[in-house]
Amino acid sequence: MSTGGDLFSKCYKFEDAKKLQAMGLYPYFRPITASTGNNVVTAGKRQVMIGSNNYLGLTHDRRVMEAAQDAIDKYGTGCTGSRFLNGNLDLHEQLEARLAAFVGKEAALCFSTGFFVNQGTLGALVGRADVIYSDRENHASIVEGTRVALGDTIRFKHNDLEDLERVLKNTREKYDGALIIADGVFSMSGDILNLPGMIDLGKKYNCKIYVDDAHSLGVLGPRGEGTGHHFGNHQDIDLVMGTFSKSFASIGGFIAGTSDVVHYIKHKARPFMFSAAMSPASTATVLKCLDIMETEPEHLRSLTDNAAYMSKNLRSMGFNTLNSRTPIIPLLIGDDATAFAMTQKLCEEGVFVTPVVRPAVPEGCSLIRTSYMASHTKEDLDYALEHLEKIGREFGVLGSAETTERLNRIALENFGAHSIQ
Ligand SMILES: Cc1ncc(COP(=O)(O)O)c(C=O)c1O
Repeated sequence: MSTGGDLFSKCYKFEDAKKLQAMGLYPYFRPITASTGNNVVTAGKRQVMIGSNNYLGLTHDRRVMEAAQDAIDKYGTGCTGSRFLNGNLDLHEQLEARLAAFVGKEAALCFSTGFFVNQGTLGALVGRADVIYSDRENHASIVEGTRVALGDTIRFKHNDLEDLERVLKNTREKYDGALIIADGVFSMSGDILNLPGMIDLGKKYNCKIYVDDAHSLGVLGPRGEGTGHHFGNHQDIDLVMGTFSKSFASIGGFIAGTSDVVHYIKHKARPFMFSAAMSPASTATVLKCLDIMETEPEHLRSLTDNAAYMSKNLRSMGFNTLNSRTPIIPLLIGDDATAFAMTQKLCEEGVFVTPVVRPAVPEGCSLIRTSYMASHTKEDLDYALEHLEKIGREFGVLGSAETTERLNRIALENFGAHSIQ
């Protein structure tokens, strides 16, 4: 006799992706068959890549590629075990010392992904009597960390200090330790965290401050040291998290803070202790990128110039960019169907972009996320602009005062006053 239901019934009923596939609009898992960084080939078509996080364009820097190859020659292709037991390389420890110095902290610890950093650090530090205050737009890996952590999580409105103070006032006394956590640059909207205000509230309500600098490293600060260096208050951040999957052209991530706290995380964070170490090639890649970031400011300068060029032109065409001031420049589209259809058309015409739909953004606020690199040439950027404008007009996102007005209203209601351009 059988009892209960079929565990897989939800899989049989899951139609969302299949419907998009049937319409030829499925924008995910596009196999890239060749890449030069700025350009990729998918479905046999060359596209300008304006949908990656390769901000400094270092994935194809010859020196970085050679460093990865040399590490393979010296250490082999993988560590085949956790750093805790048998996978710890001198390269990992060199990288940790360099990263700690770069972001201005006593110590750093490298994990094999950035996702694991957030999950593992929150899980290790936040006990049953503690609380996490988390921005509503924080990355999924932070959300995952808040699920693993034993303490409560209280979310506050995105980048909204009034709302953060409201929840702190109402709840802080009920808990023992407390942590306020937010992305330094938000991955979908490109917003920069209001860090000075967050630090003031952290001091007032006795909370530690944790900044996820995944999209800020290589992007903000004089040499790309992140959000704290951008605002000149990095010494007031208790924990800085970074990933290697963006400006550092590799894979992995790190947490940085005081020696005692990092030592504790090293012996308590389960995704660190029970998952294999970053590969030699990945680690050497990050070390070489760090050399370049420390000594060649021209990459950050050209990233900033390219982002400013695109922002100015996209806005003057009439796109609503949510007033982004970073190399992540979203285009507010509104409904999912238009975002999917425009993405497909852009890819067919040689521009690789990605759509952002619910739950990453609120219903009716779909975006096309564009992001820029230091290595993009003027030709790459002008090609993208020409096709974005053409297709924006074709789909009615551009060229109608009524649509512009409607999108401005959506931006104000869902992304806040700072998104008005
Ligand atoms: C803000 C943020 N935090 C953390 C991560 C996770 O980093 P990783 O790709 O190294 O797992 C990402 C990656 O998308 C991110 O955007």
